[in-house]
Amino acid sequence: MHDIIQQLDDKRAAAGLGGGQRRIDAQHKKGKLTARERIELLLDEGTFEEWDMFKEHRCVDFGMAEQKVPGDGVVTGYGTINGRMVFVFSQDFTVFGGALSEAHAEKICKIMDKAMQVGAPVIGLNDSGGARIQEGVAALGGYAEVFQRNVMASGVIPQISMIMGPCAGGAVYSPAMTDFIFMVKDSSYMFVTGPEVVKTVTHEEVTAEELGGAVTHTSKSGVADLAFENDVDALLMLRRFFNYLPLNNKEKAPIRATTDPADRLDYSLDTLVPDNANKPYDIKELIIKTVDDCDFFEIQPDHAKNIVIGFARMEGQTIGIVANQPTVLAGCLDIKSSIKAGRFVRFCDAFNIPIVTFVDVPGFLPGTAQEYNGLIKHGAKLLFAYSQATVPLVTVITRKAFGGAYDVMASKHVGGDLNYAWPTAQIAVMGAKGAVEIIFRADIGDKDKIAARTKEYEDRFLSPFVAAERGYIDDVIMPHSTRRRLARALAMLRNKHVEMPARKHDNLPV
Ligand code: HXC
Repeated sequence: MHDIIQQLDDKRAAAGLGGGQRRIDAQHKKGKLTARERIELLLDEGTFEEWDMFKEHRCVDFGMAEQKVPGDGVVTGYGTINGRMVFVFSQDFTVFGGALSEAHAEKICKIMDKAMQVGAPVIGLNDSGGARIQEGVAALGGYAEVFQRNVMASGVIPQISMIMGPCAGGAVYSPAMTDFIFMVKDSSYMFVTGPEVVKTVTHEEVTAEELGGAVTHTSKSGVADLAFENDVDALLMLRRFFNYLPLNNKEKAPIRATTDPADRLDYSLDTLVPDNANKPYDIKELIIKTVDDCDFFEIQPDHAKNIVIGFARMEGQTIGIVANQPTVLAGCLDIKSSIKAGRFVRFCDAFNIPIVTFVDVPGFLPGTAQEYNGLIKHGAKLLFAYSQATVPLVTVITRKAFGGAYDVMASKHVGGDLNYAWPTAQIAVMGAKGAVEIIFRADIGDKDKIAARTKEYEDRFLSPFVAAERGYIDDVIMPHSTRRRLARALAMLRNKHVEMPARKHDNLPV
């Protein structure tokens, strides 16, 4: 008995040291925490229950039989974040560079399977050199087992990836299929092929940071949702982010108590929209002044800035916010913003999170760059996502709602439950100038006639009333009462239930 306990202690100590003190020091020198230190920071103190600490790889090639580290390069288990259950895997770069072996994959799959059975989210802390080269196809198979579970878990439990080191090659596809990808600045990168291969194939010279660093993926590609300064910052923000989410698709997100009155009025909103319809204003001011405690958790703030997405709360309940941003590209919809918002709407819908949409959209962005790159299909993603959403949808049109973009942005026609407009709303096929030039083309040479026609168009169409007359707008509300009206609408919709027609699955324009 004594021997076994001694062995247990020795094995625990060996597993705790991972690849050894020298490699732990190297990890720290890079400004990175170890796999276990990360879990400690992420979870509530003392709640981590580790599984498979003694699991080892079974590879015998390339001298691997003599190189075994208990745990095999990944720490797995479950614990809580603010008292709520979560499963975690944390790759240990000090053990074979966190490379994924067959056994390493089995550990990840084990926690994913249990997370699905009990209905709890999975968080992956990725720090890995990819497939364990010595294992060949066994490692590739291991990745595919993880991929398959990512897909099965999609829309059932939230899956979050925090990239805290390398993530390259096919390994990127597991995070890519999770709901959110976060990265740490200067120490993480993701790419399908690294700088060397890029140089050989395309003759481009690019650093790993430029090719797939946190800044690249949160601004240019949109692959990652947020970038954090360092490991500590990243893990603390992840704890905060987790509080917005339900544990699974059958539950609602937790309610956070607030002292912010639901009927709080904000008169400064009455002057938010400038008199000049072409002048921008910051939609984030409206978001912040409307939600509980002015607390807005923005997602992808540096990518496709013409649309703003993120989480907030109303009367303590998590909501997703989608808002056109007039300060960037006049708030129009383009490829990137449609993809960004479309995926967010689908996440909210999958996980019972009501969506509030603020609309000020002059239309879709014109041009060959957009058309050649598939604006039609990509724009349809957002339309599809809203049309398919069965969670409560509450929409406020603050100013422009023109053309197809009016339809897309959670209009009544695609399933908006409550559609409000501010008195400044203009709901029409297009703005006055474009409209008059088309329908009164014969008068174009006559300035006075055109001015009269423009005024006639503006009076008739550039207001919320034509839409309200038809019931497409449920009410015209004063800006200062936006919070109160939204809170009441969301409370009324709290038990909304809609069944979708039976089908194998839809055919989203991917
Ligand atoms: C086995 C690996 C490894 C791997 C790193 N190591 N990657 N061992 N398999 N994939 C080991 C190293 O031998 C080294 O061991 C230790 O991890 C740390 O690696 P270093 O190179 O010293 O660290 P660093 O300089 O920080 O560079 C990290 C790195 C580099 C950029 C990740 O190691 C690297 O390029 N590795 C190979 C990446 C790769 O090509 N992976 C396959 C991708 S394809 P010692 O004993 O010296 O500490 C893929 C396919 C997935 O993953 C397909 C899914 C469908």
